[in-house]
Amino acid sequence: MSSFQLPTKEHKHDYVLSQFDRIARGYDKSNDVISLGMHRSWKLRAVGELLGVNQGGRYLDVCCGTGDLAILIARMAHRGSEVIGLDFSQGMLDMAGIRQERAERRKPQLQGKHISWRRGDAQDLPFGDKEFDGAIVSFGLRNLTDLQRGLDEMSRVVKSGGRVVNLDLGHTTVPVFKDFYQFYFREVVPVIGGILQNDKTAYTYLPESLTTYPKPDEITRMFAKAGLTDIKHIPLALGTVALHVGTRR
Ligand SMILES: C[S@@+](CC[C@H](N)C(=O)[O-])C[C@H]1O[C@@H](n2cnc3c(N)ncnc32)[C@H](O)[C@@H]1O
Repeated sequence: MSSFQLPTKEHKHDYVLSQFDRIARGYDKSNDVISLGMHRSWKLRAVGELLGVNQGGRYLDVCCGTGDLAILIARMAHRGSEVIGLDFSQGMLDMAGIRQERAERRKPQLQGKHISWRRGDAQDLPFGDKEFDGAIVSFGLRNLTDLQRGLDEMSRVVKSGGRVVNLDLGHTTVPVFKDFYQFYFREVVPVIGGILQNDKTAYTYLPESLTTYPKPDEITRMFAKAGLTDIKHIPLALGTVALHVGTRR
């Protein structure tokens, strides 16, 4: 058993913010190593679900981190589309700005698309009702103090018929693999975080945060409570990752 203590509800906001501000610089490299690069294909699938058949409009990436997903949405969406990435960590947003500059120089698919970053809290989005054609969160929901509130907010800012997408860790039930997965997350990931980022604590929080994160069926119920319909749960990577998609009523 780990002696690590998750922060209490009242301290979670400040605790999570300080963790992400601290690891912002090395976040991308660690993410690639920990997911063995697979987070890229999961994100590609998630953006495909977000855009659906519409492929263009105004999109919100909540808990955008270093901005890879927001930039991917802009690359895949039609010309004239707009993407806003929102995060509460200035450290992460600074990295997103650097990534955007680099991408705009190198990726012709970004021409005619508008990407911007906004500092704010996912539980109190600084946008009006039905401003977006779709909203997405990837590996972010788990970190919120009030998950339902985060989903309610995403649903609120999306137009009727638009999609809300959540990509996050799942709870695999595949025998044997389940044990390997738990060992990897609890024992190996903190060591990788310690080596790459010199920050074992932040990478101990990661697996521990999964212990209180709801199972996919519960996330489906939370989507329904947030006013979403046609809800799908798509398990990825043997159920270690869960993709949820819902349509705004
Ligand atoms: C694990 S990272 C995920 C980043 C990115 N979406 C990705 O898929 O790589 C979680 C992000 O959520 C942000 N975050 C956590 N709680 C937040 C909140 N209440 N409001 C806004 N951002 C938050 C953190 O700052 C961090 O950048």
